[in-house]
Amino acid sequence: MPPLDASMPPFDDRTDGRTNGRSNNDRNPDTVHKAIIFEDVVLGFEDVPVLDGVSFELRRGETKVILGVAGSGKSTILKLCLGLLKPDSGRIYVLGHDVTTMTEEELFDLRSKVGIVFQESALFDSLNVRDNVAFRLMEEHLPEAEVQKRVRESLSFVELEAAIDKLPSELSGGMRRRVGIARAIITQPEVLLYDSPTGGLDPITSTTIIELIMKQRDVFKTSALMVTHRLQDGFTLASHYFDPASKHMKSSDGMPSQDIRTSFMILREGKAVFEGSAHELGQVQDPYIKLFRRMFTALHP
Ligand SMILES: Nc1ncnc2c1ncn2[C@@H]1O[C@H](COP(=O)(O)OP(=O)(O)OP(=O)(O)O)[C@@H](O)[C@H]1O
Ligand SMILES: [Mg+2]
Repeated sequence: MPPLDASMPPFDDRTDGRTNGRSNNDRNPDTVHKAIIFEDVVLGFEDVPVLDGVSFELRRGETKVILGVAGSGKSTILKLCLGLLKPDSGRIYVLGHDVTTMTEEELFDLRSKVGIVFQESALFDSLNVRDNVAFRLMEEHLPEAEVQKRVRESLSFVELEAAIDKLPSELSGGMRRRVGIARAIITQPEVLLYDSPTGGLDPITSTTIIELIMKQRDVFKTSALMVTHRLQDGFTLASHYFDPASKHMKSSDGMPSQDIRTSFMILREGKAVFEGSAHELGQVQDPYIKLFRRMFTALHP
């Protein structure tokens, strides 16, 4: 498999002429500037449609916030990105590779470039923090010294070095999410998939998790999809940047360029019914989106 880097040429193997009205003038998707491309993706389970023609693009360095009610297909989108599920039709490009046609062996290589933070963290209960975080590198049979160095770096990023010997049962919900993030970033992925990283956390702990996601976006320029139930998470990401000097987030008031690193997508009945910036989301007059905005803000402040 060729190296997955930004200098890769775009795909040139398409003959069906579909572009979905997307950005390019030619018919090939722009896999150089886009980390993820969904083209008209359809997927149903036992004849129940879940995704019914979903198209979107994630630019490199961007974080896209995915919103939608329970069961709208948010986790399904993340699983499709990893090739854990295959669509019934449509194309999915991740870092320039069409994951719908890849073999398991090719997907294994790609997955080291794509980290996932699972819903509810999904840590191994019987493994301590060190082994949970190291898991992916152990699978790749890296030398032990390198594994230990990378574990410490990842735990330092999430400010959890002190918990290295603890078991998941000894950690708070917020700490478990941090371990989940450390485990996802240990391969230094180009793309991160966050599944409800603040689900079930109180607002203050949620903000500390969002600050880590922001740090990853602004320091490492990682491309990301972030599923969330908290609209506020998305607005915080869109309106702040990570300041390395103070090691905290700061308001990006008057810095419009920060806003474009975060976009929003709302799923409804198998379709992406909204895609745009935080500002655009705030302005939309569509009755469903207005209701959605009010409902989500009230339920998940
Ligand atoms: N492997 C599967 N087999 C059968 N049905 C599935 C499978 N995975 C997901 N589904 C169904 O697909 C729909 C979308 O599921 P998904 O987990 O993507 O929703 P979600 O938006 O992540 O919801 P939540 O907010 O509750 O996490 C649901 O109706 C779910 O029951
Ligand atoms: Mg889900």
